[in-house]
Amino acid sequence: MAGGGFVDAHGGARAEYYEYNITWYFIFATVVAALGGSLFGYDLGVSGGVTSMDHFLKEFFHEVYKRKQEHLKETDYCKYDNQLLTLFTSSLYFAALLSTFVASHVTRNKGRRASILVGAVSFFLGAILNAFAQNLAMLIIGRCLLGVGIGFGNQTVPLYLSEMAPAKVRGAVNQLFQLTTTLGIFIANFVNNATEKHPKGWRLSLGLATIPALLMFVGGLFLPETPNSLVEQGRLEEGRKVLERVRGTTKVEAEFQDLIEASEAAKAIKHPFRNLLKRKNRPQLVIGALGIPAFQQLTGMNSVLFYAPVIFQSLGFGSAASLWSSTITTGSLVLGALISMALVDKLGRRAFFLEAGFEMICCMVAVAVTLALNFGQGVALSKGIGIFLVVTISLFVLAFGRSWGPLGWLVPSEIFPLETRSAGQSMVVCVNMLFTALIAQCFLVSLCHLRYGIFLVFGGFILIMTLFIYFLLPETKQVPIEEIHLLWQNHWFWKRYCDHDDQLQQVERKLEQV
Ligand code: BGC
Repeated sequence: MAGGGFVDAHGGARAEYYEYNITWYFIFATVVAALGGSLFGYDLGVSGGVTSMDHFLKEFFHEVYKRKQEHLKETDYCKYDNQLLTLFTSSLYFAALLSTFVASHVTRNKGRRASILVGAVSFFLGAILNAFAQNLAMLIIGRCLLGVGIGFGNQTVPLYLSEMAPAKVRGAVNQLFQLTTTLGIFIANFVNNATEKHPKGWRLSLGLATIPALLMFVGGLFLPETPNSLVEQGRLEEGRKVLERVRGTTKVEAEFQDLIEASEAAKAIKHPFRNLLKRKNRPQLVIGALGIPAFQQLTGMNSVLFYAPVIFQSLGFGSAASLWSSTITTGSLVLGALISMALVDKLGRRAFFLEAGFEMICCMVAVAVTLALNFGQGVALSKGIGIFLVVTISLFVLAFGRSWGPLGWLVPSEIFPLETRSAGQSMVVCVNMLFTALIAQCFLVSLCHLRYGIFLVFGGFILIMTLFIYFLLPETKQVPIEEIHLLWQNHWFWKRYCDHDDQLQQVERKLEQV
């Protein structure tokens, strides 16, 4: 999905002749690679919990700790507003965003496996540094190393999964990354629940991130390179052997031919990024590279995730209750990913985007109204209102978990034509990480100043993105990936770009004849 040199196996008219079995070799490769999602997810889940732990705050963010103690029983929108505290969270995403471009280069030239190994090592070192941190600098440097790990992992793992998967089950295999991401978040919440009382508990929470990194590194040593990458590097014999082993059959001629052709076509494009800017690629640029990844983050989902424990504490819940509430919300995220995996190929992408978008708007408005009426007067929230908020936030998360979460990665990965797929996917990762970092950096200060209004802002964004999907995204369900361009030609808005392009091609052809 993400990454440099994406070469698709779903090529041309030969797809119907592809043969495959689900082999143990394939299962091993996808399970190890999918661990990359759990690194990402574990970190997403653990940071929110740790930044609300008293012992952690006392050690590194004393001012926040003091403010928190002074207003312990009160409801206060600004309790956690501290730019350094948010820098702790968002530094990782800035590092990930920058390293994605390096990862793209390594993935393309040295192979997917190399990027997976680099990602695992960097993540491991970051987790060690964080676990033993003595000062803020160690913490932030550790976060940056984790970020590089995630930059490499997110760039290459979804790509690896897509390339290893037989074409017919690519959608579900692709979403495995989202599933492991959400499982990582879920497990991180349990870890935080168990460690939060102990003075050094936060060290364990942060240090346990070494486990998925170690598993991914050791597994990565035995991981086969993808056939696509081997073909791309000119190692045709090896590529064919791996393909036969992964597919569990020697009848791979059709798929192998497509790999070779796809690789040649992709190599012929010298400037994929420039190509992406061409008028004929406007729908993919606007929807896939910019709109969907930015909108995925503007749903406000990560604010809820990073700061769910902090939000619940700000709202007057006790420390342990907050962690339990966020465990419930992240459980909804896993459930959402499972629902999406099971149904998205049957019900379609648009159906999920639209119905879940409507549900998310309602939830955001409900949270904003509840807070406007009951919160911020220095009085603790009643139990009933607290429960209502947890349920509403869980419904919001469940809606995101089956729509913008998985589809925010899946849809861009299926709409780029081959020649811009690599560049397009690099943009997807970059825009996604940029918006993740911005939201992480801005959320607490916005909560402090806009108060309940911040949830209305997110609600407004979700309304805009739902209309964006309604008017601009055609249904891609079960459309062969190399035929997606036909959807634009028949689309009420995008067809003018294709028409113009067709006319241009006709003129060019005539000129050539003259
Ligand atoms: C998003 C992340 C998010 C995660 C879980 C992913 O698809 O890219 O930003 O935290 O889903 O919600």
